[in-house]
Amino acid sequence: MDDFVRRDGRLFAEDVPVETIAQAVGTPAYVYSKRTLLGHFRRLRDAFAAVSPKIRYAVKANGNLALLRLLADEGAGFDVVSRGEIHRVLKAGGLANSIDFAGVGKKRDEIEYALEVGIDMFNVESEAELELIEQVARDTNQVARVALRVNPDVDPKTHKYISTGQKESKFGLDIDRAQRMAGWLQGRDAVRLTGLHAHIGSQITQVQPYVDAVTKLLALAKRVRELHPTLTSVNIGGGFGIHYRENEAQDLTAFSDALVPMLQESGFEVHMEPGRVLVGNAGLLVTKVIFEKRSGDKRFVICDAAMNDLIRPSLYGAFHRVEPVGNPPGDSSLADIVGPVCESGDFLAKDRELPPLAPGDLLAVRSAGAYAFVMASNYNARPRPVEVLVDGDRFGIVRARETEEELMRGESAQAQWCDA
Ligand code: LLP
Repeated sequence: MDDFVRRDGRLFAEDVPVETIAQAVGTPAYVYSKRTLLGHFRRLRDAFAAVSPKIRYAVKANGNLALLRLLADEGAGFDVVSRGEIHRVLKAGGLANSIDFAGVGKKRDEIEYALEVGIDMFNVESEAELELIEQVARDTNQVARVALRVNPDVDPKTHKYISTGQKESKFGLDIDRAQRMAGWLQGRDAVRLTGLHAHIGSQITQVQPYVDAVTKLLALAKRVRELHPTLTSVNIGGGFGIHYRENEAQDLTAFSDALVPMLQESGFEVHMEPGRVLVGNAGLLVTKVIFEKRSGDKRFVICDAAMNDLIRPSLYGAFHRVEPVGNPPGDSSLADIVGPVCESGDFLAKDRELPPLAPGDLLAVRSAGAYAFVMASNYNARPRPVEVLVDGDRFGIVRARETEEELMRGESAQAQWCDA
């Protein structure tokens, strides 16, 4: 479900030919559809309408200010993992009191900043973190609202790098420990327990692991509420999967049909922190063919986007659809689509049917709205791509392409020596 469609053989982003955008801003370019983004937000909100969830968008999926602004205007809150992400949300016009702050390694200055701007709550992942939050809150005469992040020990049946809710993962607190910490929290003035949280992984397509995790979360929340009447919310995390392949279903109602009755029955306020499901299919990466080459029987399409621009294929073996933006003639054959970076692992896709391509032809890498630009690097001194937002029949740059000069900011050829 997205607004990147073919008309007369040409790929459009909403009502704008992708080729027009590439001509105007160059390549590689990330292109986002406002209609797709808001459509996904509304579909999620509607699917869970019976429990009126507080939807806190996971900024890590795509932190572009323009997208954050669109979501803030739509009533979204935000899930952040760093001081930088809090800063970004506030800059985009998001409300501090709609932010929850997750992550296993929050530093003192980040906690101070979060309290100072007045975020809603911290999702706490260890005893040491809880003690530090309490100390900072006490030192600054504030009360920190906290949720305990529980590790429910459920296998989310997704890629191992994006599984977070099993015993051997660094994330969250096992259930016994969370219960002990809830006891410890009794009678503490500077920290108030307001919620419990679980997030078991990303790109989850099976409903049952999610149901298992929420079942454990709710059972614990009911026990802890006996000690803490201030415990009013459960945060069910993010993780809803999207379609990367053609004709793959993205069925949010399968999740909501299973989860809503349990959540409704529990009486807790429901928070969730989706990332990918909102932005993943709302973006594509447009790249230009530089050359084709052959090596033995193998066909390579070398294009100007590389692993530094989109690392998911190299890092996770992730599948992204790749298609020509135009309609080049000729018989398709299998090709690897690779970038100019000096690594064998630099590829965007392998063994895909593509027609013969000429230098200058454009390709679109689909479903590149989430964990794409945000994970881009400057490896091989490559400036990161421009980002463009499309709204109906207009488009605008929402992040300029980096320049080579910018890549050297703060760097000097001569050290500023200090005597030790
Ligand atoms: N909440 C927490 C605590 C998280 O760690 C994450 C994602 C989310 C919410 C949002 O999950 P989502 O709804 O987007 O699945 N780079 C990887 C994905 C890493 C996910 C990290 N945590 C990828 O490209 O697949």
